[in-house]
Amino acid sequence: MAKSSNFELLSYHKFRDTPKVQFFDITVPNSNARDLVFHDGPAISPHNTSEGAWQFYLHPRQEDNLLALSGGRTFYLVNFAWEQPFHIVRLEAGGEILRIPPGTFHRSVSDPNGSLVINQAVRHAEATVQSEFRVYNSAKIPKLRWVTSQAAPPPILHGFDRERQAA
Ligand SMILES: [Fe+2]
Repeated sequence: MAKSSNFELLSYHKFRDTPKVQFFDITVPNSNARDLVFHDGPAISPHNTSEGAWQFYLHPRQEDNLLALSGGRTFYLVNFAWEQPFHIVRLEAGGEILRIPPGTFHRSVSDPNGSLVINQAVRHAEATVQSEFRVYNSAKIPKLRWVTSQAAPPPILHGFDRERQAA
């Protein structure tokens, strides 16, 4: 697999921040596609297999830039080119934008009340729905199954502090 940059958490410009009105510039430079993904309740995307195995998306030619607009969603990221291949990142409404580089396995799980996420993607010219939205079953990819197994080194967690503080 080609060398891949790490994922990033991007902040954005808040123009106006009053108790009743918040106004943000969420422009992602070079984004040429906008996907809106609504999870009604605690949905998993892509869904697990009937045997309960995790499944992942991986875009060979698309960068995702994900911002939660309402609710919360937890992203599971695996990239074998990273020094630490497995990360779990929590997104909450109005938080940072999660940039996922091409070549990264990713799946997401919504909070119990669901979530609405906008993806300001950067799609390369050769990207097609068939190439970019294949689903990968971790039970059939030994390296992916190992990295996400209980026996492997634990994932690195990001963005879980607020939850702990609130608890
Ligand atoms: Fe994606």
